[in-house]
Amino acid sequence: MKHFLNTADWTRPDLQALIDDARAMKASPYGEALKGKTVALLFLNNSLRTRTSFDVGAHQLGGHAVVLSPSGGMWPLEFEDGVVMDGEAEEHVKEAVKVLSRYCDMIGIRAFPKFQDWQEDRKDKILTAFAKYADVPVINMETITHPCQEMAHVMALQERFEKDGRGALDGKKFVLTWTYHPKPLNTAVANSALMIAAKFGMDVTLLTPTEEYILDIRYMNQAAHDAKANGRKIHVTHDINEAYDGAEVVYAKSWGAIPYFGNWQEEKPIRDLYRHFIVDEEKMAKTDNALVSHCLPMRRNVKMTDGVFDSANCIAYEEAENRLHVQKAIMKALAG
Ligand code: CP
Repeated sequence: MKHFLNTADWTRPDLQALIDDARAMKASPYGEALKGKTVALLFLNNSLRTRTSFDVGAHQLGGHAVVLSPSGGMWPLEFEDGVVMDGEAEEHVKEAVKVLSRYCDMIGIRAFPKFQDWQEDRKDKILTAFAKYADVPVINMETITHPCQEMAHVMALQERFEKDGRGALDGKKFVLTWTYHPKPLNTAVANSALMIAAKFGMDVTLLTPTEEYILDIRYMNQAAHDAKANGRKIHVTHDINEAYDGAEVVYAKSWGAIPYFGNWQEEKPIRDLYRHFIVDEEKMAKTDNALVSHCLPMRRNVKMTDGVFDSANCIAYEEAENRLHVQKAIMKALAG
């Protein structure tokens, strides 16, 4: 039994095969690969795209999705092992997952970190518990990484570069830029973007305002490992001009600085100094006609200007659409 927890667990050819199948299903959306099968989708956090695209995807392949969330009537869950359950939680994750495995053919889970203690959050305990206790395949719908988003992004890049006659992703300058946001956000999409760009052979630059915004060492190392396998290195810079110069892809995301997890009142004045990291027309003019994207949801004119987001070079809608197609390919592959 195989799970889809992180792209680091999958080879590039295996991921490319999923993307190729997603492209085939984009051209011909309906099938019977999930006929008679049910997918449980557990959302411990908000969602628009993930929830809708998984539900629609299961339907288009002849299957059925059950969407569950604590706010929607599910029992509050306990995720720690060996605890005396005399608090709010009525059910242990072990029972919940084992029972769902009796009803359903696969389980998706969204569980963001708590943003209080990164050393705890980086254990990804909820996803790990689901994978440990489930008797059916588990899909990561965003925890401390967001593998489905990565796949949709790569698919959108390949489609657009192909359409524009600009060739393969290998060697293209990919810039992952931190952007301002009034709140400290999850690092998941940034971790994912860094890893997938390195895995698919791009020349990756991470642009952050200071060293404190560099991503967790686990994801920096994984990206460096994949970059090396492709004969490349990960470049880290705090210089906006250097990063944007000659870029062929700009991926925008905001995230909280790891050293300040649980101490966000100290991080806020630092973050507020870097509002100018917004992706705007002036910065995009320094690029090599770069494609630009964001995972969404996105605060317009905070992370990216209207002019850049609404330009022909922005592939965010394609990326969002591709969530549907790649997730269908993933569910189909896991359903076996
Ligand atoms: N990008 C993404 O996962 O969107 P939602 O949070 O709306 O699901």
